[in-house]
Amino acid sequence: MAIRELIYDGNKLLLEKSEEIKVIDEDIKKLAQDMLDTMYKYDGLGLAAIQVGKKLRMIVYDSTYIEEGAKKRPVIMINPKIVWTSKSKVLVEEGCLSFPDVFEDVERFEKVKVEYIGIDSKKRIKSVQGIEAVVIQHETDHLDGIVFLDRVDKKKTKNKKNDSKKERKK
Ligand code: CO
Repeated sequence: MAIRELIYDGNKLLLEKSEEIKVIDEDIKKLAQDMLDTMYKYDGLGLAAIQVGKKLRMIVYDSTYIEEGAKKRPVIMINPKIVWTSKSKVLVEEGCLSFPDVFEDVERFEKVKVEYIGIDSKKRIKSVQGIEAVVIQHETDHLDGIVFLDRVDKKKTKNKKNDSKKERKK
């Protein structure tokens, strides 16, 4: 178990486009595991490699691990690509481990299909909806240097200061 150092708002790396992963070697596997350890440690729902300073197209998430004691269902996606989006959208409050204490309503597609390579080097396609779809859109945005605040429509949402309730961050 190794916790990596997160990068935060103001770090220009967050605005950069990450690079495709060509070979899934031991370093990539170690990075994936460390990203999961880091995500769980800081109560995140998801994490992109760029958030630990690695400009690589890899995301990890666990959209079901919300309550204390819940079963962990970690997902690792290498070179994820959203290949289909629903017409319907949802407005969901998001946070981000790189933006501590910032929460904003963001409009996302309700359902998406994502193509990716698993840590076992197998190509997969997954249809997702709800919070899982939101997390994947948030994390794949990171790979293109887009952060959730870039997606906030000020006309549709009002700026919210941090609520007292504990929030899960992406
Ligand atoms: Co984020």
